[in-house]
Amino acid sequence: MIASFKNAPRKGLMLAALMVAGLVAGCEAPPQKTSQNGYRGTGMVQITNAAKLEAKLDANKLPEVQPPADATGDKASKAYQNVKVLGHLSEGQFLRVMTAITEWVAPEQGCGYCHNLENLADDSMYTKVVARRMLQMTQHINEDWKTHVASTGVTCYTCHRGNPVPQNIWFADPGHVARGSAADPQGQNEPADLIARSSLPRDPFSIYLLGAQDIRVASTTTLSETVGRPIQAAEKTYALMTHMSEGLGVNCTFCHNSRSFGNWEESTPQRVTAWHGIRMARDLNKDYLDPLKATYPANRLGPEGDAPKANCATCHQGLNKPLNGAAMLKDYAAELARPK
Ligand code: HEC
Ligand code: HEC
Ligand code: HEC
Ligand code: HEC
Repeated sequence: MIASFKNAPRKGLMLAALMVAGLVAGCEAPPQKTSQNGYRGTGMVQITNAAKLEAKLDANKLPEVQPPADATGDKASKAYQNVKVLGHLSEGQFLRVMTAITEWVAPEQGCGYCHNLENLADDSMYTKVVARRMLQMTQHINEDWKTHVASTGVTCYTCHRGNPVPQNIWFADPGHVARGSAADPQGQNEPADLIARSSLPRDPFSIYLLGAQDIRVASTTTLSETVGRPIQAAEKTYALMTHMSEGLGVNCTFCHNSRSFGNWEESTPQRVTAWHGIRMARDLNKDYLDPLKATYPANRLGPEGDAPKANCATCHQGLNKPLNGAAMLKDYAAELARPK
């Protein structure tokens, strides 16, 4: 009894030291860099941590560029039997694409990830059928979505990074009500990685990045619009915005002046790029990725039976420009372009 009383001040000191250690661990080591993103006084500041950024840049190194191919000679459509997308390429360019996509998507597995190695023309592996659609999707992104990807463009590597299944994908999650539970009507209150471990609705993607529901919180009239803009819409909007910030590794003020989130005049040019990005993601999910559910084996589908789909993080992976803005497409411009 006496012994423990005598120890009490020391224990208190140790506790205090532990608490301080806990607090400091929650902070980030300097140096922090801040940059103004808006007019002076608007507080539109981006804060970056040099060490964290360094680590992200390390994780975003590009693979080596394949040696250039001879663009003359026989067309692939003539040289091979079952070529439906890349027939306009020369034989050399065609094989350069095959080597590159192997490195970008299945470096450990090799050609056999997509091919029956006894007969390369055979379409019996689902991965080859999916890859053919992915080639068309990549052409579509680079040629029809310059409003978002500019001339920087994308390759398979932008999403895959050497993995057959990209690290950031999403599936429909309608919440437990749809699965017969009265609690959790919106599928929320469970911290989820896709929305930065917040307890907002876990799936803002089905309605905003596959469906085209309005992303709107603020009323545009003095009269209440509660019928049209219920609190649930606000929660889902914030869930999507949280994903966008986390996916790009930026604060809300990268795009918004937070005194009025809805106001376009006070927003940054990046918000306009993001607006196109939302439309692009909808288009890719609706026309390319979701329809592939008929092609995938059951173990690739989500709990609701839907196909794996893309969001902002699929390409961006924590940076405001994927691969830190590296213009990787230019080294494969001829091969990944549509026939002229
Ligand atoms: C990620 C999937 C994927 C990988 C990996 C892959 N291929 Fe292909 N390959 C395809 C697709 C898709 C086609 C059909 C392209 C088209 O329709 O335009 C194809 C077609 C071919 C053809 C034409 C066959 C014919 O006669 O129709 C050859 C040859 C070929 N690939 C060689 C290779 C080689 C060699 C490798 C390994 C270095 C490889 N591929 C790796 C997806 C892949
Ligand atoms: C916008 C991002 C994006 C781009 C660009 C992209 N993919 Fe994909 N890819 C996906 C997503 C999402 C999936 C679904 C993951 C899964 O299969 O579970 C996928 C799946 C695949 C699969 C099936 C893998 C498996 O094991 O199920 C193959 C093969 C593939 N992609 C090849 C390619 C090739 C080749 C290219 C470039 C011509 C490409 N992808 C470009 C997002 C992308
Ligand atoms: C990368 C740019 C970007 C980032 C970062 C971003 N937003 Fe947005 N935000 C947008 C765009 C674009 C829209 C409009 C979407 C549309 O109309 O399709 C929007 C819409 C909104 C709206 C709806 C405004 C209205 O008219 O009712 C709110 C609220 C909002 N954002 C809050 C946030 C919050 C909070 C954060 C940080 C957690 C954030 N945003 C981060 C781009 C961004
Ligand atoms: C198919 C891949 C892909 C997807 C999906 C994608 N982006 Fe992008 N995004 C890019 C590329 C590539 C660039 C770089 C364009 C350039 O160099 O100007 C970019 C640039 C941006 C920029 C401009 C950054 C800056 O510093 O100027 C914003 C903002 C942005 N994206 C937001 C989004 C949001 C929000 C989403 C999801 C709704 C999204 N992106 C989805 C590929 C993608």
